[in-house]
This record gives sequence, C-alpha cells and structure tokens, in this order.
Amino acid sequence: MKTKNEIFIDLLPLKTERLIIRQVSTNDVDLMLKMDKQEVTQKFLGGIKNKTREERIAFLEKKANKFNEGHAGQLTVCLSDGTPIGFTGLSINESDNNAEISYLFDSDYTGKGYCTESSKELLRVGFNELKLHKIYGNTIEGNISSIKVFEKLGFTHEGTRRESAYFKEDDSYKDFLDYGIIDKEFKIKF
Ligand SMILES: CC(C)(COP(=O)(O)OP(=O)(O)OC[C@H]1O[C@@H](n2cnc3c(N)ncnc32)[C@H](O)[C@@H]1OP(=O)(O)O)[C@@H](O)C(=O)NCCC(=O)NCCS
Repeated sequence: MKTKNEIFIDLLPLKTERLIIRQVSTNDVDLMLKMDKQEVTQKFLGGIKNKTREERIAFLEKKANKFNEGHAGQLTVCLSDGTPIGFTGLSINESDNNAEISYLFDSDYTGKGYCTESSKELLRVGFNELKLHKIYGNTIEGNISSIKVFEKLGFTHEGTRRESAYFKEDDSYKDFLDYGIIDKEFKIKF
C-alpha cells in the first residue's frame, strides 16, 4: 500500500487558478538566494543572509533527493507561466495522520493572495485526497501576514510557546504561535 507521502507526490504538480505547486529543483537557487537577502526572511527566519550559492544548491539537492525517496517536503510555488515565486510544504506525519504546513514567498510577490491560494490547495489535497486528520503550522508574534493567512484559512490559534525564538537583531525573545485545523473544520469552512 502506498504511503500518504507517495500519494501526495503522485498528485504533483498541483494547479490552482493562478499557481503551480511543484517539486523543488536546484534551478530554484536564484529565487532562494534572492529571498535569503530579503528583509522579511531575515526578520522572521533569520541567519541565512550569508549562505553561498554552492551551499544553497546543496540544500536544494538534499530536498530533491528526499523527494525522490518519497518525502514531499519543500515544494516550489510558481506562477502559471512557470516563474518561481516562493516555497511551501506539507510535511506529512504518517503515524499521527497529520501534516505541518509551511510557506515563504518572494517579497516582490506578497500581498497578492498567493500564499492563501497555495495553502488552501494544500489543505484541499491534505484533507480531501490524503484524508489527513489535522494540519498545523506555526509563526512568530508580529508576523501579521502569516497570522492573517492562518486566520483566513480557518486555523485556530491553539497555543503560544512563550519567548521561544531568539532574535539577534534586537536581542529579544519572541513567542511562537501554534495554529491548527482539523478535517471537519475545513469541510465546514470550504
Ligand atoms: C507570510 C507570507 C508567506 C504571506 O504571503 P502572501 O502571499 O503575502 O499572503 P497573502 O497575500 O495570501 O495574505 C497575506 C494577508 O496579510 C495581510 N497583511 C500583510 N501585511 C499586513 C499588515 N501589516 N497589517 C495587516 N494585514 C497585513 C494582507 O493584506 C493579506 O490579507 P488580505 O488578503 O485579507 O488582504 C509572506 O509574507 C512571507 O513569505 N513572509 C516571510 C516568511 C514567513 O514569515 N513565513 C512564515 C513563517 S511561519
């Protein structure tokens, strides 16, 4: 019997009205290097400004190998014309029948609803095709657009991990916010 990861991989690439979600490739290195330097990436993901091209290619190669071994992991979000604009992921936990969603978009393309659109498609596939029970994610206090995406998609704020992330820039500790949505909640909302 196929694992949920394998079923998910068979469903790729996914297509929405404006986007394609596909397997990550080393050709995405230019997008990754561009995003590494962006303010929002620095602010909320931090510490990756100085990675070299070679290091980033190696990172993407590792992700692509994992994909080929049957773990979907990180995926690339592209416009319909193939332009890559960000990364997303649905990391499936087979034994608990749930998955963690993640996302990161090129600042030149944010505020246009692309994250909501691609995440909604991952929820649709996760719940309707893969029959997952729950999808969860997290963000950091103050990451308003990320919080908005969770809220727009019907996630519940399930808890706060107080002062769990250290921010070098302002020498501060920030809260991690945990969000989750259960299959029946998704079916009521969409
Ligand atoms: C978080 C992120 C993925 C959102 O991507 P996006 O494509 O801009 O998301 P969307 O356009 O679908 O939705 C963002 C929402 O936040 C709103 N928003 C953004 N900044 C805001 C602000 N300062 N105040 C209020 N609302 C704001 C947008 O208006 C939009 O809501 P709307 O559709 O109701 O108008 C993107 O900003 C990003 O990559 N950030 C850096 C990485 C990151 O933080 N990833 C999450 C790690 S947990």
